[in-house]
Amino acid sequence: MIKKIKVSELKTGMHIELPSAWRAHPFLRNSFTISSPKQIDKIIEYGITEVNINVEKSVTVQANFTLEEQPEKDFSANIVPEKLKAIVQDKKMPPEPKAQAVHLYSVNMISKLWENPSGENIAQFKKGIVDVVDLILADDATSDHLLKLTSHDYNTYLHSVNVGVYGVSLAKVVLAKGDKHDMHALGAGFFLHDIGKVYIDEAVINKPGKLTEEEMTLMRRHPSLGFKLLTETKQINEECRLIVLQHHERYDGTGYPRKTRCEDIHIYGRICSVADVFDALVSERPYKQKLNPFEALKLMRDQMLNHFQKEVFEKFVLLFQ
Ligand SMILES: [Fe+2]
Repeated sequence: MIKKIKVSELKTGMHIELPSAWRAHPFLRNSFTISSPKQIDKIIEYGITEVNINVEKSVTVQANFTLEEQPEKDFSANIVPEKLKAIVQDKKMPPEPKAQAVHLYSVNMISKLWENPSGENIAQFKKGIVDVVDLILADDATSDHLLKLTSHDYNTYLHSVNVGVYGVSLAKVVLAKGDKHDMHALGAGFFLHDIGKVYIDEAVINKPGKLTEEEMTLMRRHPSLGFKLLTETKQINEECRLIVLQHHERYDGTGYPRKTRCEDIHIYGRICSVADVFDALVSERPYKQKLNPFEALKLMRDQMLNHFQKEVFEKFVLLFQ
């Protein structure tokens, strides 16, 4: 049961649902259980006066909360949040809050880049994402938590980061011995795979229902538009730009924009398409229920296997075991 209450009535243990707009509140998730009075102060600070409570998910007895304080969003003008490097390098920080913080700061970077995807900002973004990629490659405990962050309210920024995390994690195992792969550039490609959506009308991107044929045609331009943007700004090498161009191509040739098939799709594009479809399935949208990771992987195996290179999909499944 959902109940609306005044913020003055908020208590720790209550499971709240905040407005979904990214800038409307400072928390990573739109819905979560309040674990400290500081979080209530933050909600009040953001001018929120009433919130929805999910009664079933609320904890009535004050449990011994183990969740760390949620990191705040960084609203400064710099693309790369100041605290990101320090958090990545903090060897004493436990994996779970570290994963949450790195995820939040990555979403922050993407949201700022989206506002002004200039060559200079893409260059800054690339530098920031190096730390995140190194963390995924070197710190198995934190990258495991990053993979299993279960908040899947959909927005383009969260989706970009999730696909970035899944993409780098999958590339780590698929390209295991490939010294020739520039994992930093590759990571930037995964995180920027949907950058072409900056040119698509937000009303179409956020439409709470199925797209019309005309809207779908428009939406299907985003891989080419993103590829063109990255080509013009000269910040991402050609192989990694192919991630952007090919992430909706399908192994059996049924994808878009070019119906490219099999090995003609670059291995980076084949990796990204698995990550992209998985995140779409586990995310909640107004017109569809989200699946849990197990259900999503099962559906991909049973109904979409021809869309992916089998070996790549199999390695992806292993990430979640
Ligand atoms: Fe896309």
